[in-house]
Amino acid sequence: MFRIYSCIRQLFISCLNIFKYTRVENVEQGYQMESVNRDIENNMNAELRAHEDSFIQNPENKIEDFENKANFQDCEQIIDEETIRQFIDDIPHISFQQTEQMKEIGERGIAALTSVIDKMEGFELLEEEQDFNFWIKYVETPEKYQIGIMKYTYTLNTSIDSYLEFMKDLQLQKQMDNSIDAFEKHFDEMNLQINYLRYKKIMFMDPRDFLFIKYYDRKGDDCIEISKSINVDNFKPQELNVKQCTRAVLLLSGNIIKKIDDNKIMITTYSECNMKLKLKPVMTKQASKNEIKKMVKRYRDHFNQ
Ligand SMILES: *[C@@H]1O[C@H](CO)[C@@H](O)[C@H](O)[C@H]1NC(C)=O
Repeated sequence: MFRIYSCIRQLFISCLNIFKYTRVENVEQGYQMESVNRDIENNMNAELRAHEDSFIQNPENKIEDFENKANFQDCEQIIDEETIRQFIDDIPHISFQQTEQMKEIGERGIAALTSVIDKMEGFELLEEEQDFNFWIKYVETPEKYQIGIMKYTYTLNTSIDSYLEFMKDLQLQKQMDNSIDAFEKHFDEMNLQINYLRYKKIMFMDPRDFLFIKYYDRKGDDCIEISKSINVDNFKPQELNVKQCTRAVLLLSGNIIKKIDDNKIMITTYSECNMKLKLKPVMTKQASKNEIKKMVKRYRDHFNQ
């Protein structure tokens, strides 16, 4: 009996801690979020007190009620998904000295990626082949920007080590893709980098640039890497831009890389990005897919040569 009660209590406390934690993380998002969280916290406190009171008055009756009323697994899961969504939407403000924070963002990014990677709700399948699958979904922001969320899988004839080395070679990346205008490393330590990437004008899009953390974690035959935009005060690219450039936002992107054979890996990519574009999805979705296909072809040619 008491075990169930303390279990519930523990759960309420952990819920409260999560809300407190996210509130500290999102100070910039301001008052509105805070007041919502405060309401939830007040409600939870009230709820907890109510349960405590009734439990003391009549313990026998209430136990069953607890069990029936709430599915605590669900409670935990919903809060978890909200926390992950907040993490993805929030672009952290850091300085190059804050390596611990950067690693923490990396770790949380990996947790977020593994959570969102197989949720397919709302995605449209645009291509299905043996070695290439592509899904896309769009979400409109209050400013009417279209956030594109892509998921795709493909294979490469290589090992995880060679793949990681290839990805770290920004000069080579730039050579391989002539829409890249600048690709710079601004921090590099083991499995953590800060990169600056700038694209030239491509088709319907004026120049865009990104400043983001890249972080990876290896576990045996698997590897997970994530990228997430950050804000850094007074950041200056090494190669200054000649034209007007819009800072785009990589909310979360990442790859799950699995070894499927000797010299063969399977890559599953998730990419959620605000390119600060207001064009209708019907106008951009095929083009987005074709850009990815071209990129995959470049990678394949590189590893097959
Ligand atoms: C991998 O190599 C094999 C044999 O050379 C080739 O037939 C196949 O198309 C390659 N696959 C990829 C994904 O590059």
